[in-house]
Amino acid sequence: MKNIYSNIYSFNKKTLKKTIDSLNLGNLAGLPTETVYGLAGNAYSKKAVKKIFKLKKRSNRNPLIIHYLNLKNVKEDVITNDIFTNLYKKYCPGPITFILKKNKNSKVNDLANANLDTVAVRFPEHKIIRSILKKINLPLAMPSANLSSRLSPVRAVDVFDDFRKKLKIIVDGGKSKIGIESTVIDLTKKPKILRPGIISGKEIKKFLKTNFSKKKSKVKSPGMMKKHYSPGIPIIFNKKPSNPNHACIVFGKKYNYKKNYFNLSKKGDLKEAAANLYSVMRKIKKDGYKKIFILKIPKLGPGIAINDRLNRASK
Ligand code: TXA
Ligand code: MG
Repeated sequence: MKNIYSNIYSFNKKTLKKTIDSLNLGNLAGLPTETVYGLAGNAYSKKAVKKIFKLKKRSNRNPLIIHYLNLKNVKEDVITNDIFTNLYKKYCPGPITFILKKNKNSKVNDLANANLDTVAVRFPEHKIIRSILKKINLPLAMPSANLSSRLSPVRAVDVFDDFRKKLKIIVDGGKSKIGIESTVIDLTKKPKILRPGIISGKEIKKFLKTNFSKKKSKVKSPGMMKKHYSPGIPIIFNKKPSNPNHACIVFGKKYNYKKNYFNLSKKGDLKEAAANLYSVMRKIKKDGYKKIFILKIPKLGPGIAINDRLNRASK
């Protein structure tokens, strides 16, 4: 029987070389990170960046995150500041993205940052993406590896589901351990969280000992578009389903009974719940349920990011 997943590669020296050669030619690859899988292309190449927008069917007004190995590499492309340096030392490599002013001599292709004067930069932690960044010596533009407005992928097969054979290389790095996208923080003025993530705004505030901007930013993070992360079926909050064809997402000890109930974390751990969120939603969709009901998930720490994603998925 033909292996339908023949474009999914396990990671070894041969895969590393194949992936780097392909990225160097301006082609794309689906790569694992600790948050979600990314659709990677050379951030300096117009050809590669164009391919990313096209394959994802993404609006070219929605800028991409540029992924670097470390500080040394980022300084040519963006203007760094003290808050950035402090947060970098504390959290990187890790699940946080910084919006910084673009450097005049930046080689990041303008399309990648949607012609804004800012660039989003991130330093991923997953050892596969780090070994690729180490060898390739280029930053990678890398949005989540899903079709625009669909759920982000947390396994290699999720990437395959959206792109099939249109993507020649998908590297299997196991299930993404964090499971939701990075925290996005704007550092071009008073810090402001644009997208909540596993590292919460509260935690960052406490670490920096500063206040955040409460102003509504003009340049909205377009990933904050209302409809996003959608599983493609209706989502209803704070109600139990009465129909067995409807699934129910729950959190915590109280619930682990019926077949159509999906518990994000039986032990009531919000980090575990975040890690399970997208795979549970994909499973519900695959199992053929027609609607998703969601019972209360606490709006604390990672719970803020979970509720954010669920709210947008329901739009
Ligand atoms: O965890 C992650 O961040 C994953 C992995 C693959 O690294 N990537 C990811 O990328 O989630 P994407 O493209 O799905 O989301 C990028 C977010 C969007 O909300 C986008 O609008 C915002 O970052 N963004 C990118 N550049 C920006 C900029 N210059 N100003 C404001 N927001 C920006
Ligand atoms: Mg995305």
